[in-house]
Amino acid sequence: MEHHEIAPGVTIPKIGLGTWGMGGKQIEDRRWDEENITAIRFAIDLGLTHIDTAEYYGAGHTEELVGEAIEPYNREDIFLTTKVWRDNLRFDTLIESIKKSLRRLNQNYVDLYLVHWPNYQIPLKETMQALEHCVNEGYTRYIGVCNCSANLIQEAQSYLKENYLIANQSEYSLISKAPRVNLLPYLQETNRTLIAYSPLGRGILPRMNFKTLTEIAEKYRKTVPQVALNWVITQENVVAIPKSSNPIHLLEFMDAICWEMNLEDNIELTNSFI
Ligand SMILES: NC(=O)c1ccc[n+]([C@@H]2O[C@H](COP(=O)([O-])OP(=O)(O)OC[C@H]3O[C@@H](n4cnc5c(N)ncnc54)[C@H](OP(=O)(O)O)[C@@H]3O)[C@@H](O)[C@H]2O)c1
Repeated sequence: MEHHEIAPGVTIPKIGLGTWGMGGKQIEDRRWDEENITAIRFAIDLGLTHIDTAEYYGAGHTEELVGEAIEPYNREDIFLTTKVWRDNLRFDTLIESIKKSLRRLNQNYVDLYLVHWPNYQIPLKETMQALEHCVNEGYTRYIGVCNCSANLIQEAQSYLKENYLIANQSEYSLISKAPRVNLLPYLQETNRTLIAYSPLGRGILPRMNFKTLTEIAEKYRKTVPQVALNWVITQENVVAIPKSSNPIHLLEFMDAICWEMNLEDNIELTNSFI
């Protein structure tokens, strides 16, 4: 697995694992727990050791599933990310949220704690101070945000005394290219990481027949999801967190790494999506 240095001396795989939908979406769903735990463990065994979850997912049940899935592994071998929901960004509420997440995950700490969505009703300064408190208390090693513009990241950082906001999670794929304009160049300049969510376009890219994408996949003897993921992760300071509960799809992710399409094909592919 190719790796990326997300913080000084800390590397994570270029491809991690998303968990939205495992254990339910807005409400918990326990019907596929066994399959999902097996899938998470299979992903870790393949090297997808960056696991992304959130307190919002499955109304907390997804964190419980992740906690159970990672239990047999060495904790240091996993890079565990969770997120605080936008309603919980007041100082005390955020601290309460991370403690509840840690209980559900059955962990003493997470590696990265992210603000899931900005909430303009709550002062950003208060939220950032709460995040800093989480680092100081050892609840999380690193902090970051999601769905933020370069300007908002800059503002968020200005409220932090000692810590560096290391990452922004944003939707980024061939069908969601907006981060290329401002956000990604800013993150690259400031040595932060773009964690690309929905890198498979929420399943649209593998399921629809996009002509250029299909042709390029054939040319490189890869599958469509492999090319779609490869396009994301070969960019500087970008890692991806595709979701799959299907071991065949997880195995397929592995051939998205360790190769690059030539520049001409890359440009043609990029331009084939508006
Ligand atoms: N911070 C945020 O606001 C935010 C927002 C959205 C998502 N996220 C995170 O990012 C993760 C990934 O995003 P996502 O789940 O929205 O979308 P995604 O990873 O782009 O796509 C996931 C979908 O693709 C399907 N899939 C995967 N491989 C496939 C293949 N080879 N062939 C056909 N279908 C395939 C999966 O189904 P199977 O399970 O059947 O393979 C699943 O339905 C989430 O799980 C979550 O952890 C964060």
